[in-house]
Amino acid sequence: MFDFAPAPGASKPDLYRDLLAAADAVTADEPDAVANMANVAALLGEFLPDCNWTGFYRMVEGELVLGPFVGRPACIRIPLGVGVCGAAAKSGETQLVEDVHAFPGHIACDAASRSELVVPIKRDGEVIGVIDLDSPDLARFDAEDRDGIEALARLLSDRV
Ligand code: SME
Repeated sequence: MFDFAPAPGASKPDLYRDLLAAADAVTADEPDAVANMANVAALLGEFLPDCNWTGFYRMVEGELVLGPFVGRPACIRIPLGVGVCGAAAKSGETQLVEDVHAFPGHIACDAASRSELVVPIKRDGEVIGVIDLDSPDLARFDAEDRDGIEALARLLSDRV
């Protein structure tokens, strides 16, 4: 049994340090990508307050396809360049969106979502998927969240 939990009152850097350690521990010895994404989606849901969706989209034959997540059922396929996830996958750049209603082409999978952070996962320079976090709060994500999730994406590069 795994029993990881965020330390009450932890600062964001400490929270992400503990989240990365937990993600490392649950994925280190497991070669199955789906199992690893499922456990990390669950960790994201447990560690990050005020999120209504935490999970993965995978790059499959040139489009994003829904992967393991915690949250409400979501859009299954997202073309490159469409929405926040598609923008991250196409550009290879993190998308930190303070107000999704102001993002052209945002895809509203859950009408409650107001801000979003999408970080590409790369292997050998190619985008192989994205980590997607949604929040019902405006401007929920900041540079510390971006840095923490980018570190997570690097950790998962050859584990998902
Ligand atoms: N809002 C995303 C779609 C995925 S859901 O948030 C889970 C987007 O615009 O790409």
